[in-house]
Amino acid sequence: METTFGESASTVGALRLPPGPDLPADQQARLWIERPLELLDACAARFGDVFTLELGANGPTVMFGDPAGIREIFRTPASSYECRPFNEGYRIAMGDHALFLQDGSEHRRIKCAATSALGHEGMEAHAIAIARTAAEMFDTALGDRQEATVALRPLFHEMAVRMLSALIFGDRREAADRMVAWFRAEVWRDTRAWKPWAGLHRLRPRLVAWITDELNLRRSASGSDRALDLLDRLLTAHDADGRPLSDAEIIDQVRTLTITAVDPIAFALTWLLAHVAAAPGVQNTARAEVEMSLGDAWTADPTEIVRLPYLAATCQELLRMHPVLPTASGRRLTEAREFAGHKLPAGATAAPCAYLVHRRPDLYPEPMTFRPERFLEHRFGLHEYLPFGGGARRCLGTTLTPMSMQIVLALVVSRWQIAPGASGGADIRYGTLVGPPEGLTIRFGPR
Ligand code: HEM
Repeated sequence: METTFGESASTVGALRLPPGPDLPADQQARLWIERPLELLDACAARFGDVFTLELGANGPTVMFGDPAGIREIFRTPASSYECRPFNEGYRIAMGDHALFLQDGSEHRRIKCAATSALGHEGMEAHAIAIARTAAEMFDTALGDRQEATVALRPLFHEMAVRMLSALIFGDRREAADRMVAWFRAEVWRDTRAWKPWAGLHRLRPRLVAWITDELNLRRSASGSDRALDLLDRLLTAHDADGRPLSDAEIIDQVRTLTITAVDPIAFALTWLLAHVAAAPGVQNTARAEVEMSLGDAWTADPTEIVRLPYLAATCQELLRMHPVLPTASGRRLTEAREFAGHKLPAGATAAPCAYLVHRRPDLYPEPMTFRPERFLEHRFGLHEYLPFGGGARRCLGTTLTPMSMQIVLALVVSRWQIAPGASGGADIRYGTLVGPPEGLTIRFGPR
């Protein structure tokens, strides 16, 4: 399908929106699903920082690639917009109570409880579970071999599910094995575009029954027997008024995690190792940092790994180049607003576009170069660096994601020298995410 086009202007009521392609709406929606990055690039080249796409049922969506507009979007009170219409596609896999589908006071209520459940308290234990899971999986994948070529996406998809299982159910091997078996049978058997999330829907009855049993077990456990995993914390979490979540709400937050904490982390890890393998300087610097600060990452305290600045910068740079979600949730305005000089009426949707901002040469010189140092030299604002979105809708994985990435990177550079393998072809659309090619491999070799 062509990504060359002329210019047209969408209108909402009497108000003209910023210009956009003159393609029929169904064609724009199809391009958005099939080749989102190409569409964004072509529109930015033709119309500049801010343009309008007609995205099917979602209607006119104004894409913001300029930090000034994004700063104002993130500062807009949540009472002025809704995200549910933009996120409707998540309903089948995440459920009606998923955070992505809430707005207003319901969103505030569930987010408050989920944020406290995912808070700092449990993260130290989780860092240890991540390190153990990753170490075991690398041992299984490589065994005693000195050299091996490894397909990254399947490895990291399984690793992310095992990490998620440890987060939700505690560090229990049989729970992780069961989850991996279910994902293998239902979710990963067809990885085209939207299919994996339809597969997650098939898991729903089993997941609901399992989580319900676990919640009942926890309710009957005495204080000292409590597992203190995420389910336990969701059970005791409450909103600002002290109200707990219902079982249905807890179940849908867990279903939400089966997407948000699996696919983005698997993709980020895959790209991370692919970039580090192709950048020997970065690899050496990361290794030197780990060794000088902690010795061998395999025996180090995982919570210390998370504090290493070059490792952190490397993971930030990766999510700059591959934000996984090209845009944050679109905000459909319930009242007219102006963002950096662009007047938008009620009914228009404003979408902060990380993909476009992260490739601006005025913010990130030579944007196509993988250069972690830029994050050590300069502190970027949330409107300039937005892989996790911002404002009231900011992602809940802002601690867990870098933690997983840094721990995995430290383990790898500590033990192996990695080099590029097969590129695997083009990046793929995977639900609302953009992920690395399935056939991407890297070569592990002795240091
Ligand atoms: C590479 C990893 C990840 C990336 C790039 C990412 C990105 C995002 C983005 C862009 C948003 C929308 C923010 C906005 O509209 O302003 C979001 C929302 C969300 N993310 Fe993540 N995420 C990642 C990992 C995670 C993880 C690990 C979790 C769970 C622990 C998570 C849970 C959520 C939830 C629940 C929301 C909805 C928040 C709301 O609507 O208020 N994400 N994420």
